Amino acid sequence: MSRTTLASIGIAVLILLTLPFVYHASQLGVRGLGRAAETSRVFTPNAPLTNFSIFLHMLFGAAITLLAPLQISAWLRTNRPKLHRLVGRILVALAVPTALGGFGYIILRGTIGGLAMDLAFAVYGALLLLAAFQTIRFAHAQNFTRHNRWAMRFFFLIIGSWIYRVHYGLWFATVGRTGHTSTFDGWFDQFQNWAFFLPYLIIIEAYYTRRDGTMWTRNR
Ligand code: HEM
Repeated sequence: MSRTTLASIGIAVLILLTLPFVYHASQLGVRGLGRAAETSRVFTPNAPLTNFSIFLHMLFGAAITLLAPLQISAWLRTNRPKLHRLVGRILVALAVPTALGGFGYIILRGTIGGLAMDLAFAVYGALLLLAAFQTIRFAHAQNFTRHNRWAMRFFFLIIGSWIYRVHYGLWFATVGRTGHTSTFDGWFDQFQNWAFFLPYLIIIEAYYTRRDGTMWTRNR
């Protein structure tokens, strides 16, 4: 089997794995924007701006989670460059309201896990925005070494919200609710606040540093 076929299968599997979360996030977002989300934990009575922020963020977040795997397809980049650019622009355009909606909720209501979770999620959102901006900036500058690096960070940050749920799913399935509380301030919750994105960014840096011998590729 060729590398291209293998990669395409991997991408298809990833899309299939993210689908339940994409569905969960999008239907929660649609219901919330339609003001029928009183049953959702994040719904805040008499706070239209808070609700708009969080539910819009879910809807757009679902869209970028669904689209992001397409961008890592080398086949698509080579054979359908216009589609790659179009999906890239959509991802950047939707990542902005996704992150801003998350910030809005953090500021207006605050996360269930309190200050520690507020801080971690705000850093996550800020990194997502930075990666979106840098990815498109280096594409425009035709600096594809730096574009590729930022695109990889952007990709892992986008699917980070899904990884967050995967970590919890695996943890609950193997050791139960150890370290987790209903207010998300247990030791595992505290660890999770950062573990869904930071280790993956570190692995990406380690990979590129090992491959290219430098961390920042400033002059490439
Ligand atoms: C990248 C795609 C994203 C998707 C698909 C997504 C989806 C979701 C969903 C479905 C929830 C509701 C959780 C539940 O099921 O109860 C949620 C909550 C939340 N998200 Fe996102 N999100 C994404 C990115 C972000 C980003 C970048 C930020 C940071 C700015 C963020 C901040 C939040 C916050 C603060 C909450 C509420 C946490 C709480 O108190 O429960 N999200 N997100």
